[in-house]
Amino acid sequence: HDHLITSKQLSRADIETVLDRAAAIDADPAAVADRHAGTLLGLLFFEPSTRTKMSFETAIKRLGGDVVDMGSVESSSVKKGETLADTVRVIEGYADALVLRHPKQGSATMASEFVDVPLLNAGDGAGHHPTQTLLDLYTIRENAGLDDLTIGIMGDLKYGRTVHSLAYALTNFDARQHFVSPESLQLPREVVYDLHQSGSDAQVREHESLEEVLPSLDVLYVTRIQRERFPDENEYQQVAGEYRIDSETLAAANDDLTVMHPLPRVDEIAPEVDDTEYAAYFEQAHNGVSVRMALLDLLLSDGGDDDE
Ligand code: CP
Repeated sequence: HDHLITSKQLSRADIETVLDRAAAIDADPAAVADRHAGTLLGLLFFEPSTRTKMSFETAIKRLGGDVVDMGSVESSSVKKGETLADTVRVIEGYADALVLRHPKQGSATMASEFVDVPLLNAGDGAGHHPTQTLLDLYTIRENAGLDDLTIGIMGDLKYGRTVHSLAYALTNFDARQHFVSPESLQLPREVVYDLHQSGSDAQVREHESLEEVLPSLDVLYVTRIQRERFPDENEYQQVAGEYRIDSETLAAANDDLTVMHPLPRVDEIAPEVDDTEYAAYFEQAHNGVSVRMALLDLLLSDGGDDDE
């Protein structure tokens, strides 16, 4: 079975298949309402989530299926010391596919080796978050297009798993990627190396200031400083509050700029931006449902495209 662990495994054709299917679902959601009646999706969230967990649940229910939910670490036998390998082996007997979020980088790869049903990585520590990337790409395609794209990706690029997944996926497209962060939160060096090695049209630049790139951007992707990943709270305090945007910042932007954020935000985007033409972050979160419906439909259908 197909597991989705990182965005590195996705080709341009794979991405376009999911996005096209999501667009078809958005145009006619009723057409797929009973397609997966009786299908059960296992939710294993070892870390907090609002969007990812609830949009997966909404997606499978809108396809006619349902969820079985492990619940929180506190209320499950994880609390008694059960290993991740044992937990996924048990829940694969209850569900047709598994969605896993876990604080440890690499956990989804490890867990996928113990199960035969599709396992979808819903975030592994500071590693990857590939289904977020698919909804990000859908939102970019709708607002700015994926070719001849200039994108700024700003904030916590070190610990931000949505950034790592998005950066790899964008190497499939003609995208110039400008990474804006304090020096201490730059992209991991191996990610930068991989992006340069990708042999695509990707052009990668790193900056400490947004000012120098803002006017050239089609999309500005803002991220939260991932406080929970810092080994030292003092280190967090040194960078917290940097790289905020508000109406004043955006005065220097191109009129067509699309501002995105995977959410949750803390204070990186001032609320005054929400009602401007720039803001696409709530639309982005809503796109998580149709994109995850498309992905589940493709993974759970025999042969993946039995209706065409
Ligand atoms: N964007 C995202 O992954 O949000 P949650 O942590 O709420 O799932």
